[in-house]
Amino acid sequence: MSDFKLRVNGGDHAVSASPAKRLAYVLREDLGLTGTKIGCDAGDCGACTVLLDDAQVCACITPLGACAGRTVTTVEGLSGDGVLNALQRAFVEQGAAQCGICTPGMLMAATALLKAVPQPTEAQIEDALGGVLCRCTGYRKIIAAVRRVGLAFESIDGGIGSRLPRLDGRPKVTGTEKFGADFAPADCLDLRIIRSPHPRARFSIGDLAAFKAAYPQVLDIITAADVPENSFAVFPTPKDQPVLADGHVRFRGEAVLGLIGLRDALAQIPLTAIPLQWQVETPLETSEAALTATGDLLHDFAPENVLCRGRVNRGDVGAALKAAQFTATGNFTTNHVEHAYIEPEAGYAEIVQQDGTERVRLFVATQTPVMDKEEVARVLKLPLSQVHIVPSAIGGGFGGKLDVAIQPLVAVAAWKIRHTLKRAVRLVYTRPESMVSTTKRHPARIRASLGCDAQGLLTAVDFAGDFNTGAYASWGSTVANRVPVHASGPYVVPHVRALTRAVYTNNSIAGAFRGFGVPQACIATEQLMDDLAMQCGIDPLEFRYRNAIRAGDQTATGQTLHASAGLDQCLDALRPAWDKAIQACAMKNGSGGASSKRYGAGIACMWYGIGNTVIANPSTMTMGLRKNGRFMLYNGAQEIGQGTYTIMPQIAAAALGVPVELIDQVHGDTDLTEDAGKSSASRQTFVSGNAAKAAGEDLRRQLLRLVGWDGGLDEDASAALALSAGKLQVSLNGQIRTVDLTALDQNERGDVALGRGYFSPATVPLDANGQGVPYATYGFAAQIAEVEVDIQLGTVKVLHIHAAHDVGRAINPTLVEGQIEGGIAQGLGLALMEEYISGKTDNLHDYLIPSIGDIPPITTHLIEDPEPVAPFGAKGVGEPALIPTAPAIFNAIRHALSWGPGRHVSTAPATPDRLYQAICKKTR
Ligand code: FES
Repeated sequence: MSDFKLRVNGGDHAVSASPAKRLAYVLREDLGLTGTKIGCDAGDCGACTVLLDDAQVCACITPLGACAGRTVTTVEGLSGDGVLNALQRAFVEQGAAQCGICTPGMLMAATALLKAVPQPTEAQIEDALGGVLCRCTGYRKIIAAVRRVGLAFESIDGGIGSRLPRLDGRPKVTGTEKFGADFAPADCLDLRIIRSPHPRARFSIGDLAAFKAAYPQVLDIITAADVPENSFAVFPTPKDQPVLADGHVRFRGEAVLGLIGLRDALAQIPLTAIPLQWQVETPLETSEAALTATGDLLHDFAPENVLCRGRVNRGDVGAALKAAQFTATGNFTTNHVEHAYIEPEAGYAEIVQQDGTERVRLFVATQTPVMDKEEVARVLKLPLSQVHIVPSAIGGGFGGKLDVAIQPLVAVAAWKIRHTLKRAVRLVYTRPESMVSTTKRHPARIRASLGCDAQGLLTAVDFAGDFNTGAYASWGSTVANRVPVHASGPYVVPHVRALTRAVYTNNSIAGAFRGFGVPQACIATEQLMDDLAMQCGIDPLEFRYRNAIRAGDQTATGQTLHASAGLDQCLDALRPAWDKAIQACAMKNGSGGASSKRYGAGIACMWYGIGNTVIANPSTMTMGLRKNGRFMLYNGAQEIGQGTYTIMPQIAAAALGVPVELIDQVHGDTDLTEDAGKSSASRQTFVSGNAAKAAGEDLRRQLLRLVGWDGGLDEDASAALALSAGKLQVSLNGQIRTVDLTALDQNERGDVALGRGYFSPATVPLDANGQGVPYATYGFAAQIAEVEVDIQLGTVKVLHIHAAHDVGRAINPTLVEGQIEGGIAQGLGLALMEEYISGKTDNLHDYLIPSIGDIPPITTHLIEDPEPVAPFGAKGVGEPALIPTAPAIFNAIRHALSWGPGRHVSTAPATPDRLYQAICKKTR
């Protein structure tokens, strides 16, 4: 320990610590400046970027000893007087912060740049911000924000369709947002999880008492024996995953036991000291191996290691393919993809006494507070009323925080020590721990055949896909059931057979990841669409336009789309860019001489059912009026960066007929909000948006009744509400009526009136052939990718993406564009670089995600074909944004390489080695 002096954000600080203690920990733990985030702890992600004497450094790898006597500036130093500076304001107004976990690092990198170059070019911004990773935004709005610093912004009214800056923007740009690792009780203990180094093994635990005696810093230990009900899962059956493995592990990284103590002291204990004896078994590493391993089962209840089968069967596919004028067939493989949210899982559990009852309270990053509550209650065998989830801000989810991760572990630990150590227990995953133990995108093996007639009209789709769901079920059945519905694409196809299997293996658990298997399916079918177009001699965009499903058409499940099927409008919007791109490629390829560069343009389309597949999908929202003349929206639709804390108030305010600035919010707390369902499946805008609208309408009716009008339709529509402190004033037909709010009774939360809204999309269960109405509405999109391929290196540079998305209605175009740009960035990663290999790419150095320099300009067209049953016509866009990107890039690669029918990019990602091999094959 030594004493150090440093100047932080204009103030002098003395710190007594080891010179090796890293600056990020000094700032967060010694100085309480949690605005500096730790995403990787290895200098890879840049979330911890601060300024050291005006130069950006990664605080997570900068030792305190190197900072002595120097000046440090963190995000908290940007707006010391509480007023956002011009850069922070630009970030909020441009929508440059989504989840916000990277935002402090981005702001600090941009601050260093702007000091040196007040008006930087795009290339200078990419250079300066290149060390900070963002998983949400696709970087385009970050670049726009840095370029717009100091320019004036229009004022925004906050109505439907307005570009209202996100209402939770300020804490994200000031560093005051509390993510899972940013807060815990002062005397909180830590939990260190010991994990399996083997993908499949039996194990026994040795003498824990002797181990504890040897390592007194271990205050307690949790094992499977301490878990009251040692199984959990997303669905009621099968509850196949143990909280802590009980003598048998099924994937590398599975939790085996937990040590309770203080973090740094626990970290000193070598893994070799843990009394575990392993008997290693041969793992089933692939779907093929698992399917053919007769009698060798991961779970006794799953014959052939199949978790679930999905099926859609319509018409006679065999006969239709035989009769088709042209057919296209291909085999496709995709690999594990990691969510790579910048915030590793984090939070704590504590036991609180409330009305004489012990309750478990969790502060945790989650996409689904109510499901967390249910699983924690199940694991502890407690009634639901004894579990309370208080969601932290969430630093990215993308489906990965739909499963419980730290939740049951900290809950079991805190519960075990409630009468002994009597302290809260915290767990902050390291980056490798997060990557090795949490869910991934399902690797897929797909074989598909498409057929069409001489006019280029699709006649048949035959699709078979195996999805490697890993060791435990997670969302595997959702993937197996969703993919067959979408496998024929957004087209009219009379004959469809789509069969899927979710297969257990000894791999990382595969779960929910933006699209639930549809992106993998789209990689296959959209390349085959280009095959057919080539054979027919029809332009690929035109081929899709002819086949596009439209309102009045039937899907492969027999559902008639009654409205809001805007794929043809998306394609119309893209035609000019498409024609231009094709011409540009011809010119560049024609004039290239001996260059190794080839240019291509590709297009792909998608559709996506909004919300859960058939199963119940409800949301409930409530909104109260307070005596101070303000409204409180009890918003359980968890914000994961997509904007629900902005869009829900916009919708509720419009329904209520008041300005959005009159609305305050309570977020996600399971004691205070009702169940809005999970933030996944692109459902919140459509489902919870409808519930928010209904809550606003219900409250409006009540307020009209309060002043003596009883809500007849004419009165309801034309009455104007005005609020001021203690007063509600309603104007109608020249009359004004007033209510003294202070004289009204209030409920226990302080509401004098409470509106409630509920919505659950109408669906019809699928029969044995997958016939029914799986979703109430669908999103549609088409994207064009322009690429440059280096045929000597196998590298691909994406030059431009044009995206047209039918979103029904854009409640907030800035947020919608942000989702589209972020989804495209993840689609680009899926296409070209992302491949998780357990044990090899468990960090953000070896696992590559797109950085700012990888993302090309993105031109977005918002198509608004309103959905009649949606709130103001709006559908979701979170997952649709990603789905067509990878196949559009692959089709562009094929175009650049002049590959004819039958030659595909068959494996994702198309890394340079894979693509180079494929290019060489052609030339041999
Ligand atoms: Fe950048 Fe979420 S906003 S990681």
